[in-house]
Amino acid sequence: MVAAVENSLPKHVAIIMDGNGRWARQRGLPRIAGHRAGVETVKEIVRSSVEIGIEVLTLYAFSRENWKRPKEEVAVLMQLLDFFVDKEIKNLKKEGVCVKAIGRIEALPSKTLAKVRQAIRETSGNQKMILNIALNYGARTEILDAVGKILNEAKKDPSRFEKELDENLFSSYLYTAGLPDPDLLIRTSGEMRLSNFLLWQLSYAEIYITKKFWPDFKKADFMKAIREYQARERRFGGVTPPPVLSAEGGPIPPESRKTGGGVKRESV
Ligand code: FPP
Repeated sequence: MVAAVENSLPKHVAIIMDGNGRWARQRGLPRIAGHRAGVETVKEIVRSSVEIGIEVLTLYAFSRENWKRPKEEVAVLMQLLDFFVDKEIKNLKKEGVCVKAIGRIEALPSKTLAKVRQAIRETSGNQKMILNIALNYGARTEILDAVGKILNEAKKDPSRFEKELDENLFSSYLYTAGLPDPDLLIRTSGEMRLSNFLLWQLSYAEIYITKKFWPDFKKADFMKAIREYQARERRFGGVTPPPVLSAEGGPIPPESRKTGGGVKRESV
């Protein structure tokens, strides 16, 4: 008998939450109504991610470029983050979610910074899932910050980098140090851009774009993205993966496999 193959679940899902403004415009509402509705989607996707066993969920909430938006819109986005922490912290704790933030968070308004730090502090012992929020985040800045830290350390201790500075060591200087790279990047609203998001870490991620605006993106849409990821063949620059083996060691014919050929990272 052929043993069932366990579908590979992405460990780390990163999301560019896009389309709040257009969602609002479609309804004749101000842009901030779109952001407000977007927070409801954040809650639904966080809950769904915990339910299905995602280990890390990274959400692009505010980029370094987003400061260019009208002052009122920026203020509302910050306020929504404050409310999110106030209202959701209890649930996040109950669900075992550990909050982290990436980006130059020190530049956030002091109230929001305090809320973010509170969420990080109060959830730091949680182990079920990491909710990693990108705030005042830019990937190029992240890479430059990493280079800056490396240069500083090298100045203090010239022997520090005698060994080759390899990819793993470099990754340990990024804001995402200690986290696995995203396996899956989801972008809503149909735009085909990376928008300065996790440029280093997304090197081998599978990309899933949906035309749905972020406030319309529901659990069923998230599951569709996960299923599509599971059906992809990840080769990491290699060739077609080796045959999937049954528990008895024999190859499982493709038509009997549960996934459409999705493979585990270790097998390529
Ligand atoms: C992009 O839509 C969305 C943002 C820049 C902000 C995302 C923020 C939230 C969903 C709320 C706060 C987040 C958390 C984690 C509580 P857009 O405004 O660029 O949409 P458009 O392209 O249609 O104008």
